[in-house]
Amino acid sequence: MYIDTHVHLNAHQYDEDLQEVIDRALEAKVDYMVVIGFDRKTIERAITLAEQYKFIYAVVGWHPVDAIDCTDEDLKWIEELAAHPKVVAIGETGLDYHWDKSPHEVQQEVFRKQIRLAQKVNLPIVIHNRDATEDVVRILQEENAEKTGGVMHCYGGSVETAKICINLNFMISLGGPVTFKNAKTPKEVATEIPLEYLLIETDAPYLTPHPYRGKRNEPAHVVLVAEEIARLKSISIEEVARVTTENAIKFYKLPV
Ligand code: NI
Repeated sequence: MYIDTHVHLNAHQYDEDLQEVIDRALEAKVDYMVVIGFDRKTIERAITLAEQYKFIYAVVGWHPVDAIDCTDEDLKWIEELAAHPKVVAIGETGLDYHWDKSPHEVQQEVFRKQIRLAQKVNLPIVIHNRDATEDVVRILQEENAEKTGGVMHCYGGSVETAKICINLNFMISLGGPVTFKNAKTPKEVATEIPLEYLLIETDAPYLTPHPYRGKRNEPAHVVLVAEEIARLKSISIEEVARVTTENAIKFYKLPV
């Protein structure tokens, strides 16, 4: 079995055919899915899905791209939701310097507030990082993020930075990009980082793995990520499935 540790089944891209997408995931032995919220609407939807399906869990938090829209009231609401029995982490939070919508200082402030919130409610954090590795790692260190630990979602950095994150009590999560032919660093990370520190994810509907690149992604495709890790490590896909599933259960404290 597999666990898709980061998927946006709460995104509008699944409005038409969510049940079919879920059925295909279960068919592919993706037995659990962790749905990540990133703003008011998607957080509400993540909770609804987690209440509707016993194999779906929710993560609640505010995306750095939209940090400018995040109010203290929103954070208070996220803190309250953290007590929900199916909420397993805070996120996705972090920094995204690729898009210009929210100034860096605003992103950093909302990021720090969510790290502190996670410590208050004692849940791990799910980190989104785009073009901001240095600041993400510095803030994690300054805020003692190792207290709760977390996961570097869809990790795209170097092996060296991955080791720093692991020392900070973070997991490294690999997604579709590891399957791309030209993805040199994700393949290095998959090869070099021991399996016990790896999670697998789709980030669907985004980051569709090879050979479906360009189409909408879905949780069933997490198997393709596992396959590529198995190939790179020269081990069986069964072992990748078994260990990454154990890792996900332990990381999110899933009651299975
Ligand atoms: Ni995501």
